[in-house]
Amino acid sequence: MSFIADRLSAVKPSATIAVSQKARELAAEGRNIISLGAGEPDFDTPDHIIEAGKKALDDGMTRYTGINGTPELQDAIIAKYKRDNGLEYTRDQIHVSCGGKPVIFNAMMATVNPGDEIIIPAPYWVSYPDIPAFFGGESVIVDCPPEADFKMQPEQLEAAITPKTKWLFLNSPSNPTGAGYSEEDLKALADVLLRHDHVWIMTDDIYEHLVYDDFKFFTIAQVEPKLKSRTLTMNGMSKAYCMTGWRVGFAGGPVELIKAMTKVQSQSISHTAAVSQAASVAALNGSHDFIKSNNAVFKERRDLVVSMLNQATGLSCPTPEGAFYVYPSCAGVIGKKTPAGKVIENDEDFVTYMLEEEGVAAVHGSAFGLSPHFRISYATATDLLEDACQRIQRACAALT
Ligand SMILES: Cc1ncc(COP(=O)(O)O)c(C=O)c1O
Repeated sequence: MSFIADRLSAVKPSATIAVSQKARELAAEGRNIISLGAGEPDFDTPDHIIEAGKKALDDGMTRYTGINGTPELQDAIIAKYKRDNGLEYTRDQIHVSCGGKPVIFNAMMATVNPGDEIIIPAPYWVSYPDIPAFFGGESVIVDCPPEADFKMQPEQLEAAITPKTKWLFLNSPSNPTGAGYSEEDLKALADVLLRHDHVWIMTDDIYEHLVYDDFKFFTIAQVEPKLKSRTLTMNGMSKAYCMTGWRVGFAGGPVELIKAMTKVQSQSISHTAAVSQAASVAALNGSHDFIKSNNAVFKERRDLVVSMLNQATGLSCPTPEGAFYVYPSCAGVIGKKTPAGKVIENDEDFVTYMLEEEGVAAVHGSAFGLSPHFRISYATATDLLEDACQRIQRACAALT
């Protein structure tokens, strides 16, 4: 009998973290590697947020706080939901944790029994199927190919719902595709959900502020208020505020669910760091001008990467509405041979080839549940992105 608990056998380690680790190892061996694997802005946390963190330490914010954070942070989150999403929450409807990932983890631990089904549109963020799997939850994966702009259609949702469905996961703009659901898209899904009142919705809005061109962000409880009593509206500081390492995520939801998630957290991580909470208050209540200027850079990079990848033989790359990822198809290189004579059988072979031959680290689509694709994060310096795309073009041209 293994010392390690059986439940871990249903869970895979994060493929995106594994790719970044492999890229770091090759770079440490002296290889010239460009890593496009990590989902993290390359911009530093803005100064006014860092200053708020420093001041909090000087003011003695070094002790325990409440499980769901300080009243100041809860109020800043309540104000954010009202300002950005038109959603009203009270303090007892707010959960705060060490990032968006633990918010989802707490929600799943609080609600999922073995055999419960979780509907997950694919491609999906790598952690979605694995977090419920800790608790015996079964993922029902719904394929959302590029022909449908990587978005789940209402009839697909209807067909996926069973009496065992507990949760639907929604993520817009999406990791890994950058695709965003419009108000009309969400309304069409909401109409299905109104017919199935046992289904709860976990909406991951962590890329809310990272949208380009004239895309307008909406979240489902805003589009259909009747769903608010069974929706967990998740968000966090990591992406738009460039605060990945501070570890703050939050959610608004019904009191009963928040209470259960709080119980989980009270016996696990307790709460996120007091200093991070103070910095998050400054971020949420302060000027958001830096997001506009960061987004102008992200948009330029997105356009560069989309254009250069579409010039690579065998690749085809749609233009996404948001986040900082593109998810090109590599269907046109499958079956081709590398200069070393190896046949590219799938997207994992292709990203391995790009890493070994050209030193470009990307993540294979099978990790996100939809092949043959790969994910590139363009949250990387523009000159490096240009270099990486030239290498990818060269790698594709060398296939026969
Ligand atoms: C879709 C999505 N949700 C949640 C997270 C988790 O963010 P955090 O770092 O706040 O835990 C990520 C991070 O990559 C993400 O891409």
